[in-house]
Amino acid sequence: MTRLTNLLRHISRHAPNMALPAATLRTGARMPLLGLGTGPGSVGTWQLWNTRHHPDDVLPACQRSLTDLGLDYLDLYLMHFPVAWTRGDVYYPKDENGRAVLATPDVPFMDTWKSMEKLVDAGLVKAIGVSNFNISQMEEVLTNGRIKPAVNQVESHPYLVCSKLLKCAADNNVIITAFSPLGRPGEESLHGVSPLKDPKVVSIAEKHKKTPAQVCLRWQVQRGVVVVPKSTSPARILENSQIFDFQLSTEDMETISGLNKDARIVKFGMCDDHPQWPFNGEF
Ligand code: A2P
Repeated sequence: MTRLTNLLRHISRHAPNMALPAATLRTGARMPLLGLGTGPGSVGTWQLWNTRHHPDDVLPACQRSLTDLGLDYLDLYLMHFPVAWTRGDVYYPKDENGRAVLATPDVPFMDTWKSMEKLVDAGLVKAIGVSNFNISQMEEVLTNGRIKPAVNQVESHPYLVCSKLLKCAADNNVIITAFSPLGRPGEESLHGVSPLKDPKVVSIAEKHKKTPAQVCLRWQVQRGVVVVPKSTSPARILENSQIFDFQLSTEDMETISGLNKDARIVKFGMCDDHPQWPFNGEF
């Protein structure tokens, strides 16, 4: 946590008066529209990993995370993926062909969700949500859950705009968080194409005297999406936080939304034969 603490100090030194606009979760809690990413090193939100879906594993997994983080409760706890992998301490259980070893018998995500609801009852988490759930999977949790999901965290950037998911989420009071909102620059995952180098994004950035990264992030928060851009560089973290001092026009917003290519980076292809692998469905 030391590096994270240093980065937060760096931001507050350079932007001491920055009040972060927030989205309101269905619990009434306010969640900043900008976060520093989830996974090791994040604040407030944590995720239940794919090997911990068995109903008996959910409470111990959450308690372990609380102990590791030194916290009494989590603000938000997300089910990372709708597919359960085999139980145990192997983080990425794989067979000899590199395929994920699935839970046997399968654990439907609603069984996992019911155990997550008990974490709320026990006061260990304030809100629960999902991640990488497509529209029909999110609707299943909304319909059958006693506690409705507060958040669905999905990959989204100008080449993966998820407009149908956003509409469904807004209709059902679910906040969408975008991971990889910059399209993971530097990786070849988008076939060498980066939204940060898109001529239309670059041109809008020049017009506003902002960077392409700031434009990609501003576009998301302006359409009500929370962003969690990851960076190890204090200068970039600061850059990524300076998105609340300018406004994109309606035309800018439409231009960026029009760049959609349904180009997905994070596919978890090692379990794409599971019927609940989410990326055959609509986002
Ligand atoms: P670095 O850690 O060197 O800053 P995403 O959140 O879309 O998955 O992207 C994460 C990647 O984006 C990281 O490799 C990070 O590299 C890079 N990155 C973060 N912020 C910026 C930025 N403002 N401009 C360019 N690249 C960035």
